[in-house]
Amino acid sequence: MKNRVALVTGGMGGIGSAICRHLATHGAKVIASYNKSGNHEAAKEWQAQQLAEGYDTHIYYVDVTDFQSCANLIKQIEEKFGAIDILVNNAGITCDTQLYKMDIDQWQSVLRTNLDSIFNVTRNVINKMIKHRYGRIINISSISGQKGQYGQVNYAASKAGIHGFTKSLAQEVAHNGITVNTISPGYIETQMVMAIPESVREKIIAQIPVGRFGKPEEIAQAVGFLAAESSGFITGSNLTINGGQYLT
Ligand code: CAA
Ligand code: NAP
Repeated sequence: MKNRVALVTGGMGGIGSAICRHLATHGAKVIASYNKSGNHEAAKEWQAQQLAEGYDTHIYYVDVTDFQSCANLIKQIEEKFGAIDILVNNAGITCDTQLYKMDIDQWQSVLRTNLDSIFNVTRNVINKMIKHRYGRIINISSISGQKGQYGQVNYAASKAGIHGFTKSLAQEVAHNGITVNTISPGYIETQMVMAIPESVREKIIAQIPVGRFGKPEEIAQAVGFLAAESSGFITGSNLTINGGQYLT
């Protein structure tokens, strides 16, 4: 993937940072998009830290829930770097509670961030990929989108929706040299999982045959595999990475 232009949304998060480092290590020009509620200084600090560790990453602000913000992001990237070759739709949030307590904001914020975002970003990228007859699109879903999860009707619905998007787009653009795949991580050691109450976390680990949470680098490695030029025959697939917690 040397010199390929790669955009990772949520690129400064737990899994996103690992993906950025992995792609940079393999020679891609990596762009991490961030939101950070508009705290651009925090984003610059992340960038400086990455550089100090040897990873040169470009950074751009976006709100993935907003179509126009995504259009602006892609325009800026294309003007500076040319067409995007590798798109990793990774930005996402949780807002866990049982349905009987869930309000409309908790539903909409999760659906907009996790599912509308896939349309908002990919729609702005796809025409240039088609024109260039090359692309690797990797959507980060979740084990919760496969098996459902107590307290996550919003999140599980958003992540299940990603599978339908992936399989449909894969069929539309296969003849253009573009692959579209999903990765469904299980529980990975990031802030998202650490926000779960400890007593619940212990119960979750007990359900994972490998006996631990996954590491962000274990997801990043799989992204690298699907992003490689040599993975051109893999499309419309879903790669499950969950320590054996749920087998399909
Ligand atoms: N696995 C196993 N058991 C779980 C569970 C889980 N993921 N989530 C909840 N439970 C159990 C609790 O341990 C509890 O069991 P007992 O009645 O036997 O004690 C029962 O369900 C009810 O839970 P709470 O007492 O915690 O209920 P609450 O109303 O106080 O809180 C909740 C509800 C906010 C949903 C809370 O249970 C919770 O945060 N659960 C975690 C849900 C979860 O797994 N979210 C994943 C976040 S990370 C992520 O989403 C990344 C990804 O893609 C995997
Ligand atoms: P994380 O550290 O919280 O990262 C999530 C990222 O999403 C953040 O970097 C955040 O950007 C970005 N984001 C949120 N709202 C946004 C918005 N409106 N606009 C732009 N960016 C926004 O969580 P993570 O664990 O790395 O999760 C990454 C992805 O993996 C998510 O899609 C998540 O659902 C999925 N996943 C995680 C696990 C897990 O166990 N951790 C398991 C399965 C799937 P800023 O930080 O810049 O605000």
